[in-house]
Amino acid sequence: MTSTLLRGRTLSFVRWPETIDDHSAWRYEEDGGLLIRDGRIVAAGAYAQVEKQAGEGARKIDHRPHLLLPGFIDAHAHFPQMQVIASYGAELLDWLNTYTFPEETKFANAQHGRRIARLFLDEMVRHGTTTVAAYCSVHKASAEAFFAESHDRNMLNIAGKVMMDCNAPDGVLDTPQSGYDDSKALIGEWHGKGRQHYAITPRFAITSSPQQMEMAGALCREHPDLHMQTHLSENHAEIAFTQELYPWSRDYTDVYEHYGLLGKKSLFGHCIHLSKREADALSATGSVAVFCPTSNLFLGSGLFDYQRFRRRENPIRIAAATDVGGGTNYSMLRTMDEGYKVIALNGEKLNPFQSFWQMTRGNAEALSVAEKIGTLDAGTDADIVVLDARATPAMRLRMETVETLAQELFLLQTLGDDRAVREVYVAGRAAKTDMAT
Ligand code: GUN
Ligand code: ZN
Repeated sequence: MTSTLLRGRTLSFVRWPETIDDHSAWRYEEDGGLLIRDGRIVAAGAYAQVEKQAGEGARKIDHRPHLLLPGFIDAHAHFPQMQVIASYGAELLDWLNTYTFPEETKFANAQHGRRIARLFLDEMVRHGTTTVAAYCSVHKASAEAFFAESHDRNMLNIAGKVMMDCNAPDGVLDTPQSGYDDSKALIGEWHGKGRQHYAITPRFAITSSPQQMEMAGALCREHPDLHMQTHLSENHAEIAFTQELYPWSRDYTDVYEHYGLLGKKSLFGHCIHLSKREADALSATGSVAVFCPTSNLFLGSGLFDYQRFRRRENPIRIAAATDVGGGTNYSMLRTMDEGYKVIALNGEKLNPFQSFWQMTRGNAEALSVAEKIGTLDAGTDADIVVLDARATPAMRLRMETVETLAQELFLLQTLGDDRAVREVYVAGRAAKTDMAT
């Protein structure tokens, strides 16, 4: 059985780093080794130790002086929006109506879906992201295209066809019954196939009728192990329209609560303008609030209160995400750079260890997949990113004055992008190199 032995500076998190000096929150090896067999990490630690377990014939790849980290995880992105990114001049509802819904009608065409799914996952890998929780379009074919492409690459991805049956053009509408039936068929075909996970995906309260919300709730009850993903409290006009459509609701969160959509595997994009009651409801159910900084800035939606959510007496679980194509970049480094600035505008800081924890183990925990991905622990899947903090002339120059790992990570986050990603391993396979050749 062939195995691969990677050498480099390894960094993996054990838990949330409380401070920049909280060394026991991470494991860092200046000369680290990762032994990979059958797509999994079988040994990790000091290179000299790991090498002893490698045996003859192991393929050795020396990535020194670069950093080896768990592959980045993006907790919310829309693969059909690659040609929506950089659409000028609108806030959420206008942006959806003017640019996004018309673009998503194209995904009725299976060939178009397959092409964009391929290019989307290429882009993810190029930017060091090995797992994404993705929204497909309303069309069943778009989810089939995404999963087929993801399965071919042996990526661990989470995705679902959006359910939407009102308040959008006909070309992107299903019905309560067809939304249910198509989701059910996709779950049967794709959930648990290789590394694929299905997420029940009612787009948001505005585009689902009460009948469709009932159906989404039924799917969650019938498949309690599945993820559920949707949008919540992104923009004031969205909140007001939701209140008109669901006049009996106490607030926006109550709509989802009413239909049984809150829970440990429920991912709520944005969560910017939550009341205390709503935050308590998310916390009490273990639901996850997904921080999408580039999108929230681009659409002028507002500032996610990351540190306050963490510090509450009843904290909210948090993930971080690009939200492409409301989001403006595929890179989790760029995303957390903007996240740092959003948090700064709230008068707080996110230190670089916390940031890299969030992109890796933090997001894996939020997505309930930390036993498989998000660390470099032996026994987990070999999804790994190789980072070069001297990737550009400006980074190289700044590195001349960097003295600590914390400073290097912060430099990578502040100046880094896909150019800093030297290699990406997906289940042990060198995916960035494979793509280039
Ligand atoms: N709310 C409902 N759909 C969307 C979407 O596609 N992007 C964003 N940012 N918010 C949404
Ligand atoms: Zn979104």
